Amino acid sequence: MDLASFSSQLDDLRRRALEAVAETIDLPALDTVESAFLGRRGELRTLLGGIGQLPAADRPRVGALANPIRAEIEAAIAARRDRLADIALEVRLAQERTDVTLPGRALAPGSLHPLIETMREIARIFGQFGFVTYESPEVETDELNFQLLNIPADHPARDLWDTLYVDDPMSDRGTQLVLRTHTSPGQIRAMREFELPIRVLLPGRCFRYENIAADRNFEFFQVEGLMIDEGTTMAHLRGLLDEFARGLFGRAIGTRFRPGYYPFTEPSVAFDISCLICGGPGCPACKRSGWVTVLGAGMVHPYVLRAGGLDPERHQGWALGMGVDRLAGLRHGIGDIRAFMHNDLRLLEQF
Ligand code: DAH
Repeated sequence: MDLASFSSQLDDLRRRALEAVAETIDLPALDTVESAFLGRRGELRTLLGGIGQLPAADRPRVGALANPIRAEIEAAIAARRDRLADIALEVRLAQERTDVTLPGRALAPGSLHPLIETMREIARIFGQFGFVTYESPEVETDELNFQLLNIPADHPARDLWDTLYVDDPMSDRGTQLVLRTHTSPGQIRAMREFELPIRVLLPGRCFRYENIAADRNFEFFQVEGLMIDEGTTMAHLRGLLDEFARGLFGRAIGTRFRPGYYPFTEPSVAFDISCLICGGPGCPACKRSGWVTVLGAGMVHPYVLRAGGLDPERHQGWALGMGVDRLAGLRHGIGDIRAFMHNDLRLLEQF
């Protein structure tokens, strides 16, 4: 080999290398080309490894011929590398472009369960009259759930509340724990806890040992109301309940008191509203009476006031208890209150 043929091999290598670099379409391909020509086992090294075959006088010139060509190929690779990086970025930007004119993706908002929504509505209406919401425990003592509400251990009125016991029903009544059968024990807690005048609402889950049916369930919600002051009368209750019925059903509807019986109130009443379906004449929904009972109420019994630490000679008040499931059913035309506990989205999504 002489210098002229070495030089022409070098030129050939240069031409092929520059061509190959120009043809690369991505960075991995460029790396491959780079190591094929300039790598440790690449063509240039191989060619230079052959200079031993040149006449000794020509060898010093090899560097002067080869170095600029190596530099040129290196520069071409560096430029191509920048270009390919730019292209990759452009492609990414084009693919990821955000079209700000596209309509947004709709969020599916949740909604309140009809029982919760009804309880909030009840709290809103009573809140206008200064009632605050207070939650009392779901597991109560027999004492608070019954005895202090004037329902002694063997009182026949216990039959009104079939009870789920937390521990052995034959154990000592004093410490017996029950799942509360109504929100009424919260009355005693509120009397003990709050300064007078008292205006509280006690919403919450209650439990009874029931055969379930369209109108009764073993778990359900009640809201208890309690107002105690000096000189509170049943007229306050009557007026407030008319406002309540108007607020909850969105229109003036007929209301009435009927005599009732509860051990913890005296006198006791049932509060009826005129049937929302037939409006009075009677239909199957109101059992042809034209009226639907929505809550029980009455003047708090002196025994209960004393249990709450108050003096019945000075303080009077009324209490009421309503079934939320029944009210929510009336508001939304749902006849079977068991549906509220089924968590069926086909029902719940309608609210
Ligand atoms: N606790 C009663 C029940 O569950 C409802 C009730 C009636 C509550 C009259 C009261 C009331 O506060 O005065 O059946």
